[in-house]
Amino acid sequence: MKKRNGSGCGFEIDLSGKTAVNIVGAGLAGLSAALTLGRAGVRCRLISPMPSERAQSVMAEGGINASLDTMGENDSPVQHFEDTMRGGVYLADPNSVWNLCSKAPETVNMLFSLGAALRTENGRPVLRNFGGQKKKRTAYAKSSTGKILMTALTDAVRRYEAEGLVKRYPHHRLASLEINDGECTGLKVIDLHKRTVISLSGSVILASGGMNSLFPGMTTGSALNTGDAAALAFVSGVEIANPEFIQYHPTTFPITGKRCLVSEAARGEGGRLFILRNGKPWYFMEEKYPELGNLMPRDVVSREIEIVKNDKNCGGKVFLDMTGLDRSVWENKLSDLRDECIGYLGTDPAEKPVEVSPGIHYYMGGINVDEHHRTNISRLYAAGECACQYHGANRLGGNSMLGAVFGGQVAAGTAASEIIADNTGEEESEPDEKIAIMQPVGIPERAARIMRDSLGIFRDGERLYGAVKEMQSLIDSENDTLQRNRMILGKAVLLGALNRKESRGAHTRTDYPERDDENFRKTTVAVFDGKEIKVGLRDIPEKRGE
Ligand code: FUM
Repeated sequence: MKKRNGSGCGFEIDLSGKTAVNIVGAGLAGLSAALTLGRAGVRCRLISPMPSERAQSVMAEGGINASLDTMGENDSPVQHFEDTMRGGVYLADPNSVWNLCSKAPETVNMLFSLGAALRTENGRPVLRNFGGQKKKRTAYAKSSTGKILMTALTDAVRRYEAEGLVKRYPHHRLASLEINDGECTGLKVIDLHKRTVISLSGSVILASGGMNSLFPGMTTGSALNTGDAAALAFVSGVEIANPEFIQYHPTTFPITGKRCLVSEAARGEGGRLFILRNGKPWYFMEEKYPELGNLMPRDVVSREIEIVKNDKNCGGKVFLDMTGLDRSVWENKLSDLRDECIGYLGTDPAEKPVEVSPGIHYYMGGINVDEHHRTNISRLYAAGECACQYHGANRLGGNSMLGAVFGGQVAAGTAASEIIADNTGEEESEPDEKIAIMQPVGIPERAARIMRDSLGIFRDGERLYGAVKEMQSLIDSENDTLQRNRMILGKAVLLGALNRKESRGAHTRTDYPERDDENFRKTTVAVFDGKEIKVGLRDIPEKRGE
């Protein structure tokens, strides 16, 4: 039997061409998984409600991290690892983080080899400063890095589509996971054009993104990235981890129905945060954190913004001053960010500071996976933002696209090596007009208010306790399965936050303001048994010697 190597994933598998892995989500993690499987000769299905061109990954801005060390700063994977662990306040699995950081140069070089038009000078990648990192480590394409990477990956996957190894199912929504006796044997999806239900057998990789339906209007990400697949997985018995860690990006502004991101790249290139104090600009980040200043990790910057906004000597509004940036920076590195500010705000950031405030940008928590991206259910895997893996209590900017691409590869490698049977089975129902095509993007307003009021940058036990009770009563009276699933997931987020009686990373409790390593340097794990959500704490693996 002919064999092909799993391209950097260290696995070899038979090229029978019959096995099938179902990937839910066609953004960076899903495409990366499909490419890995295609290269290995394993058949897969790429299922998503939207085509790749409309995946949230297309919106990712500032860059992707790798210690390529092209800027003469003596960077290394060890320093990338240390920054990532410190930024995540030591809550991530150090073995997974080491895998991520040590393979980052290979991962980004692989993207270059696909033709990703990241910025280069004299044929070498140019790297920029990004938050929480002491070295220039972020490869980029202006502030449209996601679009550039998605274009390259979408194109690379086409080769395997043409070979029949990757079959696309765009405009298909996950309807259910087939889980029996702790094993996933397939899934059902709805064809949104034909209103049919298709049963597909095989193992499943969830790569479905963050849970924006829990925070309607508050997120920088796509409103279509609802988190419904994660909610479905959770109510089907799949564990979630660290759901309380929600990243507020410090520099966003409101636009209709969501928030617009002002990329951290703006601060990486010299943008400065200030507030008027007694009528004069106060560059509070630079004064409070002389080493990294405006580029402290996002949790720290967002907290500081909230603190100075509430300072009675200050003017209440925080601004990002980019007026000092060189013309060449605007032309070569941030022209698209400038266009967005002009387009949405009518303000040219090269001329005038832009008012900013924190907005929800990323979920560090999600489906609980091990170092190999396995969930607690056999032959069910997760990668990308829907999974809890590399980012601990706070993600560093530039590590999400890396985590998605690398995680997709690892999940695909594990799924391919654990295939036990040929799984090409596919059955389609008759069309049914009763199948709903349109769905609400957010949870009902009362539930949204509970999430919004209790899961801000500062939290407290009394409010969280009330929120849990109120959410349960809404769940009890909800008849719509989709909204009920979402609210059950929302309740797990609230319980995770209530249970973590300390302050760490993106989780700040006013009633427990200190970090408590002894009791809480542990992973929150939540599981739903069909009636109740059980929340506990699990030890973090020790780092192996390399
Ligand atoms: O600010 C940004 O460009 C965001 C990047 C990221 O979240 O990785």
